[in-house]
Amino acid sequence: MIIIRKATLRNFNAIYNFVNALEETIFDKRKQHTIYKRNLASRNNVYLVAKQDNEVVGFLSCHVQFLLHHSARVAEIQEMFVAEKFRSKGIGKKLLDDLKMRMKKRGVAHIEAVSNRRRKEAHKFYEREKFHYTSRKFVFVNAS
Ligand SMILES: CC(C)(COP(=O)(O)OP(=O)(O)OC[C@H]1O[C@@H](n2cnc3c(N)ncnc32)[C@H](O)[C@@H]1OP(=O)(O)O)[C@@H](O)C(=O)NCCC(=O)NCCS
Repeated sequence: MIIIRKATLRNFNAIYNFVNALEETIFDKRKQHTIYKRNLASRNNVYLVAKQDNEVVGFLSCHVQFLLHHSARVAEIQEMFVAEKFRSKGIGKKLLDDLKMRMKKRGVAHIEAVSNRRRKEAHKFYEREKFHYTSRKFVFVNAS
């Protein structure tokens, strides 16, 4: 059975591996741990894990902030990942449904997700879950 829970500090290793897989890189582990601890402690971040038999098999993170152009708080999904062999079993949907419920309780009406244009399969997932394609994201790399 899959259960969705708020992530804890003990879930760091699983989430570290998920984020590396998502970004196809190996991030500095100590730096990631510092960021993880900091974000976990903030009410503006919601970190959820999906667990099966006590194993972390999925992860969703979300950041909530007040935005003037909505005149309200808006939630944005930052990372979402389900371990490969557990995909297409409804775990992503369960993570998202849990987030929707939590945001409703907090009076947050808008949930957004930014997804790299190469992640065509993920776009299908969000569209199936009634997310509408509304914007383009422009990124400037301010390298020195
Ligand atoms: C997107 C993702 C979180 C969805 O989780 P999930 O548990 O597979 O989601 P569900 O079972 O609720 O829905 C499955 C649907 O998601 C879509 N999907 C998106 N990416 C997929 C993937 N890599 N593999 C399988 N299905 C994927 C498919 O449309 C699938 O429908 P289908 O089973 O009818 O083919 C998960 O597939 C994943 O981790 N993908 C790789 C990382 C990624 O792209 N994350 C999103 C970053 S914005």
